[in-house]
Amino acid sequence: MKFFIDSANLEEIKSAAAFGIVDGVTTNPSLVSKEGSQESFEDLVKEICDIVKGPVSAEVLSTEYSEMISEGRKLAGIDENIVVKLPMTEDGVKATKTLSDEGINVNVTLVFSPSQALLAAKAGAAYVSPFVGRLDDVSSSGMDLVLDICEVYAHYAYETEILVASVRHPMHIVEAAKMGADVATFPYRVFTQLFKHPLTDIGLERFLKDWGKK
Ligand code: G3P
Repeated sequence: MKFFIDSANLEEIKSAAAFGIVDGVTTNPSLVSKEGSQESFEDLVKEICDIVKGPVSAEVLSTEYSEMISEGRKLAGIDENIVVKLPMTEDGVKATKTLSDEGINVNVTLVFSPSQALLAAKAGAAYVSPFVGRLDDVSSSGMDLVLDICEVYAHYAYETEILVASVRHPMHIVEAAKMGADVATFPYRVFTQLFKHPLTDIGLERFLKDWGKK
């Protein structure tokens, strides 16, 4: 399973990247805006690409097809690892097809149903992003959606990778991995949670204490 960091915070991205096990980064307009960075969006994204040598999703703000295309092409020109993030709308799916045909990798975001995931794959998206946490938030099962998408995609030879997004805790990642999802993207906080187990801490403390007894 690939690990992406869902963040636009350069310090967080650098800290996670230092472990050598981060495969990519996803950003979205909310995450970028939260950083209140003085530099332009393009410069910020370029800096992220320089830190993590893997796919970096940068989202378009346009909602109309032709504007999505020009914005997507511009974003794709920032770095060879840019993945253009497009929303799951009619215009978004059309733009996904056009940009994918041009060889630009697209991540279709805001996916909440298997039918939307099927459309993204048909349009040639490199990634489809089901938002698991936001489904859980409305008393629906985010992980059931991931399972459904895995089942549907398993019947065909789509190259679209299932990128589990809106991850809120380690079990989202574990469950996604058990289902065989290709990628999980998660905040730095969740990355640090993956390491933790109280028995590891207790066990290490005991080993060191016992060694000191000798
Ligand atoms: O990057 C998209 C997604 O991961 C957002 O997550 O926590 O705002 O639902 P969240």
